[in-house]
Amino acid sequence: MLLSRTGLPDKLRANDDTAKKLKAVEELEKAGAEVLVLQADISDETELQKALQTAESRFGQAIHGVIHAAGIPDGKVIHARTPDDERHMAKAKITGTALLRKALRNKQPDFFFICSSLVSFLGAGGQVGYAASNAFLDSYAHACRKEGENMVTVNWDRWEQVGMAYESETAAILSKIVDKEEQHQGILPAQGAKAFMRALQLRYPQVLISLQDVNKRMKDSYVKEDRQTAAHVLTKDRLDTLEERLMNIFKDYFHSETDVNMNFFELGASSLDLLQVSGRIKNELGVDIPVVMMYAHPTVASLTQAVKAQQSGDDLHIKGIEPDRQKAINEGKNRRKQRMRRK
Ligand SMILES: NC(=O)c1ccc[n+]([C@@H]2O[C@H](COP(=O)([O-])OP(=O)(O)OC[C@H]3O[C@@H](n4cnc5c(N)ncnc54)[C@H](OP(=O)(O)O)[C@@H]3O)[C@@H](O)[C@H]2O)c1
Repeated sequence: MLLSRTGLPDKLRANDDTAKKLKAVEELEKAGAEVLVLQADISDETELQKALQTAESRFGQAIHGVIHAAGIPDGKVIHARTPDDERHMAKAKITGTALLRKALRNKQPDFFFICSSLVSFLGAGGQVGYAASNAFLDSYAHACRKEGENMVTVNWDRWEQVGMAYESETAAILSKIVDKEEQHQGILPAQGAKAFMRALQLRYPQVLISLQDVNKRMKDSYVKEDRQTAAHVLTKDRLDTLEERLMNIFKDYFHSETDVNMNFFELGASSLDLLQVSGRIKNELGVDIPVVMMYAHPTVASLTQAVKAQQSGDDLHIKGIEPDRQKAINEGKNRRKQRMRRK
């Protein structure tokens, strides 16, 4: 039985994306499997129970194994997150796992294989909800093992050619601009299939699958500072022309006529946009302005002032010019709404 919230589309209505799913099911059937595809959200107990009953009436009472690979990609920096974002992120991995375990506990499947991620160890930009929900899976598997259940959590490295890190737009943007040192070839599908079998045979509660030395990666990720300030010293020429240079980058990115006092959120900036702009600034000016600083100084004028104050070591001045962050974001978004209504 294969379960997902969207199920399998009608053959006639398949698009490029869904045609891939249909093909995968056909391949399983050709290999001799009897496949039942059902639609259910595993974080909804009623839907989950109904799906399990349907499977039982088709295949009988025994469920021999579970592969829990449900999850959604993340992609919002911490300053832009809301409680609803976290609830959304928790559905498949936290609520869904607890409900699956509850529903199957008395059936004692031979294995309960959970897909977690190396992100719960290494962290990654814009992935705090994803990291947290995977960290939950890791601890949960250990706790269930203590109660005698055959649960294993596998912390996968990034997959290549298939899956959310390859197909999701957000993940693609993030992987281009964040953690450049983490850019390496991901797990190829054939390698992943082998690793899956091996992890299942090992019968450990937790298995980490990394294409590079995981100890080194962990060490590198822990020593990264959570910088709140612009790193690198700017040359005098770049400092003198900073406002103009920043203005050009913002104008070019947003394809919009803007002025130095226009709030980035009025331009419609999301945290992902700001991450990309931060990358461009680094490439073009050689200065690393973190997104958190753009949230604190959401206009080119105030960002320029803040970077200049920082470069001269005037921290007190920086504090003095830092506006109320939430107020600035809300004002920007409201002005944008008003502008859109007037159009
Ligand atoms: N791909 C990678 O590089 C990578 C790396 C590390 C870890 N992982 C983990 O490995 C697992 C599989 O990843 P993937 O790349 O195969 O992702 P994927 O292609 O996005 O597949 C995830 C599946 O989960 C389903 N799903 C999401 N929420 C659900 C819910 N509440 N109830 C039922 N089904 C739900 C989605 O279908 P619907 O949208 O139709 O529900 C989708 O079919 C995930 O847990 C991911 O976190 C992946």
